[in-house]
Amino acid sequence: MKITGKTKVLGVIGDPIQHSRSPQMHNAAIFKLGIDYVYIPFHVKPEDVSNAIEGFKAINVVGINVTIPHKQSVLTFMDKLSAEADTIGAVNTIVFKDGFLEGHNTDAQGFLEAMKEEGVEELRGKSAVIIGAGGSARAVAVGLVLEGVSALTIANRTESKAIDLASTIAEKTKISVKAIPLSDGSGVLAEAILESSLLVNTTSVGMDINQPLLINPDLLHKDLIVYDIIYTPPETKLLKAAKERGVKVVGGIGMLVHQGAIAFQLWTGLKPPIDVMRRALTQSL
Ligand code: ATR
Repeated sequence: MKITGKTKVLGVIGDPIQHSRSPQMHNAAIFKLGIDYVYIPFHVKPEDVSNAIEGFKAINVVGINVTIPHKQSVLTFMDKLSAEADTIGAVNTIVFKDGFLEGHNTDAQGFLEAMKEEGVEELRGKSAVIIGAGGSARAVAVGLVLEGVSALTIANRTESKAIDLASTIAEKTKISVKAIPLSDGSGVLAEAILESSLLVNTTSVGMDINQPLLINPDLLHKDLIVYDIIYTPPETKLLKAAKERGVKVVGGIGMLVHQGAIAFQLWTGLKPPIDVMRRALTQSL
């Protein structure tokens, strides 16, 4: 890679940032296309986010990804928000246009693209269950609404967060949204899974293979697709249980690749080399 006087700067901010695989993924894409860009990780503490953004403006940075814990706090610095970033309430991609800041959230589309790539058919009119109600669950819920699902059940350990997310979604659409506690023993969750075409795990449970499953695996049925957005390990206990029952699965690597690819396109205007990005990411894991 050659840095020149004209090299354009992209990057990612987070705290911590060392674990981020985005630099490998984006620099591989830059190298493949032979374009004069570089993508750099920036360790930015919460109290420095405002200064960092002002600094990026001053030095004409082209684009920034935003990761934990800044996805919400950067919202206030945006001059314009995409509809998705607004509904999700978080920004993961900033486009700098002569000091004018556009905040995007590519997680919802990334989630959908990854599913389509795995041959998942139309979800229009179908029901889905989301496990979890954090930032990732918000993006997944928005994605599923865009895709036209007719019913969503959000099951979370902390019920109040599920209720919060359900009301955000209900405000924006006419679809049926239910919020339930994950530990619900009344059978509502079991019934929702049985009636659904898709179950998505958006919690961190599964990153540690010793953690017990959050749901009874015997509820996984043949008409269900099980999508775990965790990407390490690539095959979680949940996906393994689903596969053993002949259930179609989607892992989390695709979502990570596609949210990055969409950001890359927003910054460069170029078609991202998806396979190159995926390879760089998989190698780095
Ligand atoms: P992210 O941005 O990745 O979604 P987050 O906003 O911290 O991260 O959300 C984490 C999600 O994982 C939450 O839904 C959380 O449940 P709570 O709202 O009850 O905290 C869920 N989660 C994390 N650890 C969990 C566990 N051991 N059992 C059940 N849910 C868990």
